[in-house]
Amino acid sequence: MLEIRNLSVDIEGKRILEDINLTIKKGETLILFGPNGSGKSTLIKAIMGFQGYPVTNGSIVFKGKEINRLATEKRVKMGLGLMYQHPPAIRGVKLEQIAGFLNKDAKKIKSLSEELSLAKHLHRDINLGFSGGEMKRAELFQLMLQNPDMLLLDEPESGVDIENISIMGRVLSEYLGKEGKSALIITHTGYILDYVKSQRGCVLLNKQFWCVGSPKEMFKTIREQGYERCKGCVCHQMS
Ligand SMILES: Nc1ncnc2c1ncn2[C@@H]1O[C@H](COP(=O)(O)OP(=O)(O)O)[C@@H](O)[C@H]1O
Ligand SMILES: [Mg+2]
Repeated sequence: MLEIRNLSVDIEGKRILEDINLTIKKGETLILFGPNGSGKSTLIKAIMGFQGYPVTNGSIVFKGKEINRLATEKRVKMGLGLMYQHPPAIRGVKLEQIAGFLNKDAKKIKSLSEELSLAKHLHRDINLGFSGGEMKRAELFQLMLQNPDMLLLDEPESGVDIENISIMGRVLSEYLGKEGKSALIITHTGYILDYVKSQRGCVLLNKQFWCVGSPKEMFKTIREQGYERCKGCVCHQMS
């Protein structure tokens, strides 16, 4: 589904990611850990092709096609979908307007908005005055309506209370249980690990990937011993 080869990304002349390799198969979910500022969001923005996150070296291949130079909207049309860490508010565009744009199935919009406790938010401007948790639910709502094949989730549970994490977790796990859906999920709190099935986690640290293993075991080690411990892991880069 997604193959990243020898990827380096520089921002304002500073190297953020260096010579990174990563493969995510169709139907697979990869969990990405890493301390603040290690470049996790940068990786996702480079995959999406956002301005200011240029690929300095290497290639990003999605569904067999190199997308390095493809505009973001074309990547989205190919099936890439992003859930922002810090989604912007959009004054003048209502949640129900973008929902109708993303998906023509009015029944689906209604049932999903109810499932994610967003029915009362549909008539509001996107994210304007939304609480942290409401924003994250609204992001997930839009992403699910977009129906992407590869989900890029940047700390989906941050700022969300336990009750709403379980609602989001259930929606996500049902989606990822569908045939052929893949995901790259960044998590700090690890709560999402209770809901999504994943055999593979890795750590981004000092511009590179370290360690590959069971996400739950890795998270336990990180919690007990910190990220520095990951650098000692023998299975360094992954393919
Ligand atoms: N648009 C930007 N302009 C300048 N520096 C940036 C920009 N985006 C990210 N960075 C820097 O790149 C590094 C990695 O950031 P980020 O990818 O957001 O980390 P993470 O998501 O792992 O916390 C940080 O030092 C951050 O300040
Ligand atoms: Mg980030």
